Amino acid sequence: MSSSPQARALFEPIELGRLGLRNRIVMAPMTRSRAGAGGEPTELMALYYRQRADAGMIVTEGIFPSADGKGYCRTPGLVTRAHVDGWRKLVDAVHDRGGTIVAQLMHCGRITHVDNKDPKSETVAPSAIRAQGEMFTDTRGMQPISEPRALQLEEIPGVVAEFARATELAYDAGFDGVEAHCASGYLPAQFLSTGTNLRDDAYGGSLEGRIRFPVEVLEAMAAVDGADRVGFRICPGNPFNDLSDENVEETFTAFLGALRDLGLAYCHVIRLHGVELDNLELARKAWGEPLIANDSYKRPEAEEIVDSGAAAVSFARAFIGNPDLVRRFREGAEISRFDAHKLYTPGPEGYTDYPTLDD
Ligand SMILES: Cc1cc2nc3c(=O)[nH]c(=O)nc-3n(C[C@H](O)[C@H](O)[C@H](O)COP(=O)(O)O)c2cc1C
Repeated sequence: MSSSPQARALFEPIELGRLGLRNRIVMAPMTRSRAGAGGEPTELMALYYRQRADAGMIVTEGIFPSADGKGYCRTPGLVTRAHVDGWRKLVDAVHDRGGTIVAQLMHCGRITHVDNKDPKSETVAPSAIRAQGEMFTDTRGMQPISEPRALQLEEIPGVVAEFARATELAYDAGFDGVEAHCASGYLPAQFLSTGTNLRDDAYGGSLEGRIRFPVEVLEAMAAVDGADRVGFRICPGNPFNDLSDENVEETFTAFLGALRDLGLAYCHVIRLHGVELDNLELARKAWGEPLIANDSYKRPEAEEIVDSGAAAVSFARAFIGNPDLVRRFREGAEISRFDAHKLYTPGPEGYTDYPTLDD
């Protein structure tokens, strides 16, 4: 067990806007595909999050803010009263253990397959460009990603409003905050990037146009109950989900610059190995603080990054097999592996059956 000042910093509380974290070890968002057929959170999901409530803050798996925004099978939503009722039980379970939890709003846009969503829903994107790639469906296994249609100009305020409505519902359910997923090639990232946004109206055509949609989304989420309960997630330069941009640095410098003075709770930034751009440095320069750093951190490096000014570090995969990850870090205990074959399979196996040090 280390007692260096850095080591202690990781276990010290911090406030991010109105969000209180009892330590700097955040559980990163992870889609685990255990929701009900209509996107309702289940008791099993409540148990999974409750088991991990020692985290300084939990960011939930991506949640669809509208039927159109659903991409993957068995993912949860924040659209109906049944969704709110399910989330309330889950949030209560985390709060019972003294945890903090925010809902990640993830509108998949063109990254979807029609079999995974309500037949009455649509697949929308800034431009009608199908993403190269395949997606798993429960009905027919791996399938090519579906073709989107371009949103019409007059429809866009309605999509922005879906994020605000889902934020309201998240607060109804008792969530401490909300996070907009602006990474990984989903709808906000599709608007930001030159490869997916070929519009020539107010929501494209120029740098100012491309950043408009995600900025309006964050403003709308902030308008619900203050910016200090709202965070956002970025990963500049990530080619995941067939995303490309002619000048990533310029795009994100402008996007972060537009958000800088909104008073948002945090920027959750995924660094990217193997790409020249230093995402943390970019976020520090264009956004400032507070930052939650993510991707492939181990404890010593997490201590260093918190020591050098990041508010917190988030861990995804390490939380899968280690529900008591915070304790394991604190005690220098072994970090267990997880079963990659059970990441998205229904049921408790590989989900809620990982032991704690006490079991
Ligand atoms: C199973 C799985 C599901 C994921 N789902 C999401 C998601 O819903 N939203 C999101 O922003 N990131 C998602 N991610 C990315 C993680 O949050 C994180 O950025 C990535 O795993 C790197 O962090 P790590 O090295 O600590 O695992 C997912 C990652 C994994 C392994």
